[in-house]
Parts: sequence; structure tokens; C-alpha cells
Amino acid sequence: MPARLLKRFKSRRMTLPPESDCARDTSGTSAPDRNRCWYIKPMLDFWQSLLAALERIAMLPSLIQSVLPTLPSRKRVRDAVRTYDRSMDDLLREIQRLLEAPLDPAKLLQMSGKLHDEFAPKLQASDICMLPSYNDKLPTGREQGTYLALDVGGSTFRVAVVELNGHKPGAKSMRIVNMKSYKIDNSVRYLRGTAFFDWMAEKIEAAITDPQVKTNGTQSFSMGLAWSFPVEQTSIHSGNLLAMGKGFRATEGTLGQDLCELIMAPCRKRNLPVSLDSIVNDSSATLLSRAYEDPATRFAVILGTGFNIAVHLPTSTLAASKYKGYPKKWLDEANHVLVNTELSMFGKNVWPLTRWDEQLLAGHVRPDFQPFEHMISGRYLGEIVRLIIVEAVKTAGLFSGDIPDKLNEPYALDTGTLAAMEMDGSKNFTNAIALFQSKHPLSKPPTYNDIHFVCQISQLVSHRAAAFLAAGIHALWMLRTEAEGLTPATAERLAIGCNGSVIEKYPLFRELCQSHLDELTTASGAEPKSISLEIAVESAIFGAAVAACCLES
Ligand code: GLC
Repeated sequence: MPARLLKRFKSRRMTLPPESDCARDTSGTSAPDRNRCWYIKPMLDFWQSLLAALERIAMLPSLIQSVLPTLPSRKRVRDAVRTYDRSMDDLLREIQRLLEAPLDPAKLLQMSGKLHDEFAPKLQASDICMLPSYNDKLPTGREQGTYLALDVGGSTFRVAVVELNGHKPGAKSMRIVNMKSYKIDNSVRYLRGTAFFDWMAEKIEAAITDPQVKTNGTQSFSMGLAWSFPVEQTSIHSGNLLAMGKGFRATEGTLGQDLCELIMAPCRKRNLPVSLDSIVNDSSATLLSRAYEDPATRFAVILGTGFNIAVHLPTSTLAASKYKGYPKKWLDEANHVLVNTELSMFGKNVWPLTRWDEQLLAGHVRPDFQPFEHMISGRYLGEIVRLIIVEAVKTAGLFSGDIPDKLNEPYALDTGTLAAMEMDGSKNFTNAIALFQSKHPLSKPPTYNDIHFVCQISQLVSHRAAAFLAAGIHALWMLRTEAEGLTPATAERLAIGCNGSVIEKYPLFRELCQSHLDELTTASGAEPKSISLEIAVESAIFGAAVAACCLES
């Protein structure tokens, strides 16, 4: 039984009208859309033949055009009589059917089961996913200190002075004293090998020498790094560089080298008073930062441009070979380990693909690398919607059959634009229309119906993503529950820290995911509300600091 929120979401969404007289296709061959009623075509045929007759008689088309300025131009007439394969309602119905078909709890549970089956071999052996860290314990929340936190994301590098105050009365438990943000555009993204790390050192220097950055008289900084890419950890503060994805070229000539040394070498050259004491993946950073505030946290989800989940698991869940090179002391003492699952890489044969997903993969440089990410991350939601729009323009006359500016280019439709359009609460979609027109102008501005259609599609695509994410979380939750020797019925309540533009900001995304998760966990026998998705604000920055701080306590 869908939760109240799901119901609200469903009712705010499309209520497709029954096929109208206008939309009904009596010939059985082509169905004009509902804006093109039966009388329009004969009327336009009349104008067209009148124009042709006048042209023939006068043989002076230009004169006729000037004498009869209000007469529809040939192009306008031609455009107006364009016919389409199907009506918009008909297409919308099909899109809804295809995108919602996999979302019933039984199907999502099946997908969760298949994902779960994929975990076992990767927990035994894989160099690129189910990566253990050296973080065994979660923070107590009492750790204190000031740290320099580094966050290398897909599009920004941030350097922040972070204060951790524990449970000090009257103080926020975590505080960003100062932060500098540096854009990673393509010129940085394409820096090869050590050039990228030189750039990082230059920015670290700029940040710590900035007079605005209050260093509290700190002579030297202990740094923690949140890295939004896979890394094969070799100690708490070192790790071998793995393929970075997201268009970065920093691994060219440096693949497999020590990430700590790659960053510290240019810092030393610049005599910077810093030492890199901790490296964590951004998903692990999110888990650490949320656990600092809520001791029930056991998972973290990152869902923005990229996607990942970190989970705190019993060490025995991973094969001994996964801990190659770990010190004996660590192996003797640790009973749990923070694992970077790189969950984006799972699910190749799990997700049912629509023709738009297939088109996306056909144009992708690495279609098999991150199948889960392709279904749910911010990088791809806009692209799936764009592919549907292009089909709707061509086959059903969306936007009067004209492709909006740039929408023929792959990845031109930003997921953030769709989120902002969906947030337009106005009756006539005034803001959404203006926003779309500003990003993707059309000579004839979009109508209410056009924009309503786009919003309905993006709701369907994002809803599917939220449900698939719930299936992924459920699969990992089952893995952890079993590894802890528990059953869904005896599993304790746990919290999941969430960070990233999609899960934090996309309208109703987290609520929908939570609602599906509740359905799946209760169907598996758990108490209602046994998992809660909680926003972890600025978690990469805070988590990098918490990771560095945990070393000392
Ligand atoms: C990508 C990276 C992963 C990262 C995630 C979120 O999927 O492979 O390491 O955690 O994006 O930034």
C-alpha cells in the first residue's frame, strides 16, 4: 500500500483524459493530437489551395504576399498541417506505462534480490568496487579539533577550515570556519597526471594564505581528503589511484600511484604547512559526518551528478584477500569496516531498460561501467528526459514539432532545470515556461501543454530513479542484516546520511525513495520505519575533517 506521500505525488501528477473526440483516430493510421481538431486540416487545406491558385493566376507570388500580408505563409501552412504518428496523450500513456511498470513492490524486491546476488563475487574479489577502508570504528561525536578539509568533487574543489566541537555546550557540533571553492571546469578536468595535483596544491596554498581564512593561529594543518572517485586504500592516509571517471584525466601516467604522495609532493615543493592524514571516498565521508551527529547511522548515499553508497559492515563480510597489506594490529582489532561499495557499478542485468535508456547507452563511451548510475544520477536524468522530448517532438508534435534550441545535443538538458521547472507552483506554469524558454529558446514560446508534458515526463523519470535507489538500498540493507547475524524482524533501526543535489534538492525525490524503502523493508518483515533517510549537509567537507579527527581519538 503506497504511503501517503506517494499517493499525494501520484494525485498531483498526470490525470490523463480519456481519449477525446479530437484525439481519436478514426482512420486508424494517424492520430492528430488533441489541439488539432478535425476542422483544422480542411481549413488549412482551403488556405493552401487558395494561395496556390492565386500564385498560379498572378504568377507574382511576392506581390500576393504583400497584397495579402495576413495570408498564412507557405511554411506556416506547411507547419500547421504537419501530422504526427500519435497524439501526445497516447505517447504520455505509453511513457507512463513503461516507466512505472517496474515500480511495484514485488518487482522492486526482485531487483533487490538480483543486486544482492551480484554482491557476493565482488565481496570476494574486485579491485574497483566493495572497497574496504582503514576506518573501522565510527565516530563517537565527542571528537574535537580544527582541520583543513579538502573535497575534490566532480565540478568543484573545496578547501575548508573545519572545527569539530563534540558536544560542547552552546557550540555547533561541526562548523565551517572558512571555505574556499574552486571550480573544476574542463580546463582543470583535462589536466593530465601530476598537473592536476599541482593545481590542487596551488589552490590549497591560495586558501590557507587568504587573509580572510581564519586559521586560529594554527601553525600547521592536519588535512583530511574526501575524494569523489574510487581509491584502493593502502593505509588510513594513502591509497592507489584508480580510474577516475567523470571526464578527469589526472590518472594519465599516474594510475596506481599513491594519492597521498601525488598531493603532498607539490605541497612540499611550495613549503605548505600541511600534512595529509586521512583519505576517504566522499560516500564514506558522508557516513562519518552523519554518524558524528547521529549514532544510528550505518549507511550513506551520495546522489548528485555521481552516485555511490558507503556502508559499515562486519569485517568478515569481505574476503580476507580484500585486506591484503593491512597491518596485523588492524586485522586483530577491527570487527567492522567502512566499505565504499561503488554501487554505481552494479545492476547491469537488473534494470529493465526502456528504448530511451537504450539510446542513452548507445551513445555512451562506457555503457557498461556504471549501469546503476545511468538509471538514477543527476548526470543522466536530464538526458533520459531529453531523449523522450526529442521523440515527442518528432512523433507527437510536442513544441509544435520544433526542437527547442540545443535539445538535439546530447546532455544539453540539465537535471537542475527540470527540478526547477517541477518546483513551479504557479497555476499557469509561468516560471517553468520562462525558465525553459531562457535555456532552450523556441521561435514560438512553449505552451502550457508543452511544459506540462515535460514536467510529467521528468516526474516519471525521477520517480523511477527514486524507486530504483530504494531497491539498491534494500539490497545492501539485506546484506548488512545477514552479515550482522540478524533478520529483518530483529534488525535495529538505522539511519542513512544523504548528500548530493538529486537526493537533497530534487522535488519529492527523497520522500519517494523513503516511501518505496518503507514498502520494501516491511515486505521483508522489518518493523515499519526501520530505515530513515536523513540529509547530511556539507557532509564531504565535514566527513573529511571527522576522518582526520578520528585518527587522534
Ligand atoms: C562516482 C564515483 C564514486 C563517488 C560517486 C559520488 O560514482 O565512482 O567514487 O563516490 O561518484 O561522487
